Amino acid sequence: MEFYELIKNRYSVRSFTGERVKKESLDKILEAAHLAPTGCNFQPQRILVLNTTEAIEKLQKCTRSHFGAPTALLVCYNKDECWTRKYDGALSGPVDACIVATHMLLAAENEGVGCTWVMHFNPFKMREEFNIPENIIPVALLVMGYAAEDAKPHPYHSEFRDMCETVRYEKF
Ligand SMILES: Cc1cc2nc3c(=O)[nH]c(=O)nc-3n(C[C@H](O)[C@H](O)[C@H](O)COP(=O)(O)O)c2cc1C
Repeated sequence: MEFYELIKNRYSVRSFTGERVKKESLDKILEAAHLAPTGCNFQPQRILVLNTTEAIEKLQKCTRSHFGAPTALLVCYNKDECWTRKYDGALSGPVDACIVATHMLLAAENEGVGCTWVMHFNPFKMREEFNIPENIIPVALLVMGYAAEDAKPHPYHSEFRDMCETVRYEKF
């Protein structure tokens, strides 16, 4: 799909058929994560693939925002492997994880796979259910699958601030 068409068509899918994401598509989505840029190319991302009934049942204990999706990817970063900005100690990890997640969100759309980015999950419960070590920080959950017939964009999808509110030229 043409890129601008793809980013225009994409919306957060919150109603899914029960079908799991096909292996070929999942592989391409994960490849998009693999190719994402990261600070100093340190690649601190860690992606937990949840694609079995057992894993999805565990996920449902960690968030209400699973929308019955049959597949999910939890994008995390390893805090011991991030690039660190010396001036203020800022870590690249959260940014790296978000870029990785965005690559996968768009790759999913390109594969005809519907997806919603979910931040509203309990990270403590997530750690407990999936044995996530202390140095691995969960950032973004992508719930995904094939859009059900009744899937439609939420009204927020088409609400945009005027660009003059969000873009500044030359000075703030
Ligand atoms: C950082 C981030 C966190 C989000 N968290 C949630 C969430 O917890 N639950 C949810 O239903 N949608 C969540 N969303 C989806 C947004 O609500 C959605 O992207 C936004 O309203 C625009 O709609 P669209 O994706 O259909 O264009 C999140 C999106 C982003 C980028």
